[in-house]
Amino acid sequence: MASKKICVFPGDGIGPEVMREALAVLRTVETVSGGRRFETEEALVGGASYEAHGTPMTPDALALAKASDALLLGAVGGPKWDVLPFDLRPERGLLGLRRELGLFANLRPAVVFAPLIDASPLRRELVEGIDLMVVRELTGGIYFGEPRGESVIDGVETGINTEIYTRPEIERVARVAFDLARKRTRRVTSVDKFNVLESSVLWHRVVSEVGAKEYPDVELSHMLVDNCAMQLIRNPRQFDVMVTTNLFGDILTDEASMITGSIGMLPSASIGGKVGLYEPIHGSAPDIAGKGVANPLAMVLSVAMMLKYSFDMPVEAAWIEKAVARVLADGYRTGDIYREGEGKKVGTTEMGDRVRDAVQKTSLER
Ligand code: IPM
Ligand code: MG
Repeated sequence: MASKKICVFPGDGIGPEVMREALAVLRTVETVSGGRRFETEEALVGGASYEAHGTPMTPDALALAKASDALLLGAVGGPKWDVLPFDLRPERGLLGLRRELGLFANLRPAVVFAPLIDASPLRRELVEGIDLMVVRELTGGIYFGEPRGESVIDGVETGINTEIYTRPEIERVARVAFDLARKRTRRVTSVDKFNVLESSVLWHRVVSEVGAKEYPDVELSHMLVDNCAMQLIRNPRQFDVMVTTNLFGDILTDEASMITGSIGMLPSASIGGKVGLYEPIHGSAPDIAGKGVANPLAMVLSVAMMLKYSFDMPVEAAWIEKAVARVLADGYRTGDIYREGEGKKVGTTEMGDRVRDAVQKTSLER
């Protein structure tokens, strides 16, 4: 079988630390699979690229990404680069990658692992069995809309961004959500702000039309984003697939992550283009970078999503997911999910090692 070419962007902060563990897990999968081959090549993005090349993404790195079968990315950003002009900031590297590769749909599953129920700040009865999927539009909306910028207008400092969506942009991301719903419980909640924003009026209407015309078998409901933020805490179990705009999805998925106990647990898949991009939803966590305490599980689970969505290797993906569940059941916890007196507190490397051991075991349970 031909080997898969993976372009690896460790990025900044805890990115390289969690990436190291995730790649080690991938190597274990390769070994125990007896036949799968993964070739990895590293490239720079974000602050790391800025330091080396004076730009958060070079044309060479982009070309490498485009020529690969899938991309893994750790995290970008840090206080050191927050003073730079916008075009040079680490985040621009990531946003450029998403946009250049046409990755318009970002899948962010929030799944509660049973052993972590008490790590959630929400009560056990609210979070038990949570398994929801947020589909975040990723290449449009206020993140990319023009006009944008800072200027002085009539002597007043002014910052401008534009929320803009077109029918085709909404249709294609809605279809991703409806298709996913068909493999789940056939329920979609579309989240917008149509009582205030025209872009949301169009969003609301187009999602409704796509649902009615193409997916009559899927139950569609709409929710305003402020209400949704509240409902996610009040009763998260009411949700299955959610679809929303770039900015609302950014915010709601950080919120959803806490239902599961920690933002350090949530992976994501960005799809829609020729090559998929897989990254944790957490950031570069500069406060804990280099200390060896970061939770690598979101990055590890992102590798599982890559195997599933880009390489059609559901069996191997399940090894990783089961391995993570097993390690948590065995009581291993990084600081973010550790509770005094429960389980064993471990660092990034040991957590990675435990997952690799568990992958070996779960792979034998064929
Ligand atoms: C995310 C992050 C990014 C975003 C930043 C780092 C640009 O917060 O992936 O959620 O806003 O999309
Ligand atoms: Mg975010």
